Amino acid sequence: MLNYLSFNHKLLLWSGRNTRKMPWLLEKDPYRIWISEIMLQQTRVDQVIPYYERFLAKFPTITHLADANIDEVLKIWEGLGYYTRARNIHQSSRIVMKDYNGQFPKDYNEIKSLRGIGAYTAAAISAFAFNLKIAAVDGNCIRVISRVFGINSEANQAKSINNYQLIANKCLGMSDPSHFNQAMMDLGATICLPKNPICIECPFEVECYARNEGRISDFPPKKPKIVKVKRLLNYVFLVDKEGNSLIKRRENKDIWKGLYEFILIEKKSKIKLNKSKIKEELGALLTYVSEFSVQVDKYNHQLTHQSLEVIFYKISLSGKIRLKNNSGYLVENVKNFLNFAFPRIVRIYLENDFKKD
Ligand code: ADE
Repeated sequence: MLNYLSFNHKLLLWSGRNTRKMPWLLEKDPYRIWISEIMLQQTRVDQVIPYYERFLAKFPTITHLADANIDEVLKIWEGLGYYTRARNIHQSSRIVMKDYNGQFPKDYNEIKSLRGIGAYTAAAISAFAFNLKIAAVDGNCIRVISRVFGINSEANQAKSINNYQLIANKCLGMSDPSHFNQAMMDLGATICLPKNPICIECPFEVECYARNEGRISDFPPKKPKIVKVKRLLNYVFLVDKEGNSLIKRRENKDIWKGLYEFILIEKKSKIKLNKSKIKEELGALLTYVSEFSVQVDKYNHQLTHQSLEVIFYKISLSGKIRLKNNSGYLVENVKNFLNFAFPRIVRIYLENDFKKD
């Protein structure tokens, strides 16, 4: 297997002959590097270049940026997308002025604590501006390392990202961190592509584990697709003539434990709650069921592991709720609902329902 030192030598030799032309190459000013790295998040180099140049012409130093108002910043950012990045840059520029006396922080953790800067961007800025020996590990870097060394841990879990970080740091070794990180970014973005990598131009063509095994597409391993469980929830939102309703705290050990909800009727097969079925359900809880009207609203709600179809039946009772003993329900006026924590989909429904009234 290729050792880390040989990896480093081969990579740097390759990059000496293959440098992409980008205005931030060899830049040492942390402010300018920061702007480039933020713009490059989820955005291609050729798209970024004109924005980078316009931005720095308008805001040549962090003081200029901090003194500007957010509308000026957003105007320059217009068309680049992910506008939270612009808002974060602006807020962080003011933090640097206030908390760091206008000097961009030099410490990795301080850099990472600024808004909009995660581990990758903090590593890139630390390495490019301050020569800290930290590898910037993103999807490109993970792909190169996984394929060349045959590392088959998934790239989406903190533990395995740590593993990639350790290997990448070893590959960086004692070399120049700017040179190393730029070379890794360039190799991942131009040669070691996710699909159809250009292996014949790769410095690791001969040693690459994935290529030698004929299993390039197995590295890095793909996240297993989550198979979502489908559920149908019928919620009966009962409101009497005084605005009182029934809610219950969920005790089931699941993601909604401790949250409040309405009367829940969940059955494996789809059921339609018609008036007589609703009357039967209410009869089990109330001593007396007065006349009522029904209003139905349907929602689809996606959770990480579940796909929910949620049907709300708003039952407006003409009389007052008279609860049987030991039902486990709480009689609570809808005016007080802000004091209770509901699952998000219930809150969304309630907000829409209140808007209707
Ligand atoms: N993507 C993120 N940082 C980059 C950089 N410095 N050069 C090219 N692409 C990048």
